[in-house]
Amino acid sequence: MGDYIGFFDSGLGGISILKEAVRILPHESFLYYGDNANAPYGVRSSDDITALTLSALRFLVSQGVKALVIACNTATATCINTIRSEFSLPVISVEPAVKPAALQPGNGKILMLATPITVKHDRYLSLQNRMPDPDRIINVSCPELVDRIEQGIFTENGYDDILDRCLFPWHNKTIDSIVLGCTHFMFIKQAIVRYAAMHFSGAATIYDSSKATALQLARVLQRHGISAPAEATGTVVFHTSGDISRLMPLFLKLLEQK
Ligand code: DGL
Repeated sequence: MGDYIGFFDSGLGGISILKEAVRILPHESFLYYGDNANAPYGVRSSDDITALTLSALRFLVSQGVKALVIACNTATATCINTIRSEFSLPVISVEPAVKPAALQPGNGKILMLATPITVKHDRYLSLQNRMPDPDRIINVSCPELVDRIEQGIFTENGYDDILDRCLFPWHNKTIDSIVLGCTHFMFIKQAIVRYAAMHFSGAATIYDSSKATALQLARVLQRHGISAPAEATGTVVFHTSGDISRLMPLFLKLLEQK
């Protein structure tokens, strides 16, 4: 067993969870793998996503990791059971934060933004159906967002055209909350907040699962007795299937961003 915690995403989205993990677990060391050459996953077939995910995770395991974080809603929805049966390490997965949103009372809708694959799979649909009023949650798949985020565009007005195409049916409607059901979307939170203020009535409170996932990681490490010693100095190492010279500055910028 290695000393690293392996983090996996189709691209740079998982860094949103990695950031939280680094913040609450400063003594841990992290090995991040972004499959940027094959992103976006959310428009691929389930077989394709499963094969790509398993191959990325085998790479992380070959580097010596003590736990795996699947920092990708799309991979989790598609193949988490296969992942858990293939790897004997502790596996932590991400899940859209619909529960805290659904527990907030209100008369408006909850928009759950994710990739087409996440909102199609039974794993997510059964989570939605366990919520107090499942019909209040509207699943919106935004297939074009991930591609643009992967290009490193984070401007507040850089997504209005794509958001228009996914969200125009909800213009002028009461929206109580918006769930970011894709780890990439956390990096364009300001663009989504700005868009919501322009087009929706209602609070449109944003929910994401980065903190909850990092806390779950901390609990799992503790439960398995594999937390790093308090005197250890944590590090972060990045790997990508994409162009490392373009992506490394972007990875570091996103990791350090407040
Ligand atoms: N970051 C991913 C997610 O949380 C996948 C996005 C994609 O590659 O389509 O769903």
